[in-house]
Amino acid sequence: MCDEIICRCEEVTRSEIEAAIEDGAVTMNELKRFTRAGMGLCQGRTCRRLTERILAEKTGVPLGEIAPSTFRQPVRPVKAEIFE
Ligand code: FES
Repeated sequence: MCDEIICRCEEVTRSEIEAAIEDGAVTMNELKRFTRAGMGLCQGRTCRRLTERILAEKTGVPLGEIAPSTFRQPVRPVKAEIFE
């Protein structure tokens, strides 16, 4: 197994994602619930594509048919003076 970090925000490794798929996660939302990948500060902007690719590889589902997970837009601090 390879232990490269896939989700930096939640420190989820490739082997953890692969284990979740072997345990029955077959959608991006299930992977998110099993591992927390994509639930970090960036809301999956960094790891979503990598996670989708691993899911496609492991399940044999074409990458284009993997439904995206739900996510919140990243929230960033905005100076109050912008809204004057
Ligand atoms: S890298 Fe996965 S949520 Fe940010």
